[in-house]
Amino acid sequence: MPAKRKEKERKKPGKKGGGAAGKKLWGGRFTERTSGVVEAFTESISFDWRLWKYDIEGSIAHAKMLGRQGIISKKDASLIAKGLCEIADDIEAGRFSFRRELEDIHMNIESALTERIGPAGGKLHTARSRNDQIALDLRLYLRAEAANITGLLKRFKDALVQAAEKNADTVMPGYTHLQRAQPVLLSHHLLAYAEMADRDLARLSGAMKRINVLPLGSCALAGTSLRIDRHFVADLLHFESVSDNSMDSVSDRDFVIEFIAASALVMMHLSRFSEEIVLWASQEFSFIELPDAFATGSSIMPQKKNPDVAELVRGKTGRVYGNLMNMLTIMKGLPLSYNRDLQEDKMPLFDTVDTVKAALGVLSEMLPAIGFKKERLQGTAEEGFSTATDLAEYLVRKGMPFREAHGVSGRVVLYAIKNCKMLTALGLDELKGFSRLFEADVFDVLAAPASVNAKQSYGGTAYSQVSRQIRKHRKAPGR
Ligand code: ARG
Repeated sequence: MPAKRKEKERKKPGKKGGGAAGKKLWGGRFTERTSGVVEAFTESISFDWRLWKYDIEGSIAHAKMLGRQGIISKKDASLIAKGLCEIADDIEAGRFSFRRELEDIHMNIESALTERIGPAGGKLHTARSRNDQIALDLRLYLRAEAANITGLLKRFKDALVQAAEKNADTVMPGYTHLQRAQPVLLSHHLLAYAEMADRDLARLSGAMKRINVLPLGSCALAGTSLRIDRHFVADLLHFESVSDNSMDSVSDRDFVIEFIAASALVMMHLSRFSEEIVLWASQEFSFIELPDAFATGSSIMPQKKNPDVAELVRGKTGRVYGNLMNMLTIMKGLPLSYNRDLQEDKMPLFDTVDTVKAALGVLSEMLPAIGFKKERLQGTAEEGFSTATDLAEYLVRKGMPFREAHGVSGRVVLYAIKNCKMLTALGLDELKGFSRLFEADVFDVLAAPASVNAKQSYGGTAYSQVSRQIRKHRKAPGR
């Protein structure tokens, strides 16, 4: 394959239509020209041109198999492969013009091939249909992009683990209902997202198994009477397996839906993370300082520094959810086997791939540059009576039933609110007024760092548990 070039540089398809019926590759049984509106309405080259590399890769493998099986001559097979490589070079270099009247990427390439090498080009489509060809192109594309996204997700996860390591002992308030709940380690909070990333990675790798199946050779829907060797093609294209039912292979897009669903979950997690970035960057929270390079200003309010990156990740999540619903809806009423509706799968798929890659890329770069305000985080963790549960658990350790201890601790909080005191500022005699079980050692559990370090239960927020998580992630950076 030729060296990589910017996709933008390649010539996009022109807007003109109106080709003669005779010029269509399928024009044999037609006597009238295709109407211009129909060409404009049915074309897909304006977006499926992105599949050119996979279309050519698949065609070369197909031609080799046809030559090897003696279905076409070895000479024609190598002419075809050579012609296709030259076309790939032209596309890469921006020298290829995609033509709308040729409808889609498959026919654009096939007709360029015949123009280039003559009648041998007409043999490429032997024992193949565009129905299995597009299924192949999509699977090759998705296999490559799912691997790219997996790499980006591992990088994002790595940025989370590194931020956790860097802030390993910073205490912050943990929230439920967005109300201060119990002190936690910032690293524990960040590593929660690393767990989500691990599950996202596992989902992508599960989807990959079902993407990595060869559909080519299913032909239009029924297979072929020619003696093809699908397993040979699968080996050439590094597919793990060959599809077992030709009607299923040309007509299902569940692998696309599964990928978009996995992507929707990735975006949901990124969106939650982004929401926290937005909150934490606000003056009200003031937990983080966003790097200038990752914030934007206001055209009217000179003082503003806005978390637009995080907001856009949150906003773009809607696109991916929309793409998922789009695909599910396209599929729900389709009878077997191929239907042209399936052409509509590309835009939601491409948009999902582009959106997830962009979101992961920008967040992975922004995360290491975020400044966490340690003192502010720690100071806030002490406020809001967030160690009231520790007070109750203290009484449990002294023998009081939890429900009773909860009541005592609640009354202590009420008293502290009325007297405008923090729990740590109460005297032992004041506490003894609520229960005789309180002793001087109660003050050991009331400070936020002590509260955190007492949470030694497996998966808890104590430092020992957090460092176990970090070790685990370091050992297996991505599942
Ligand atoms: N552009 C079509 C698609 O994306 C390719 C297959 C067309 N097949 C057909 N019989 N019209 O699905």
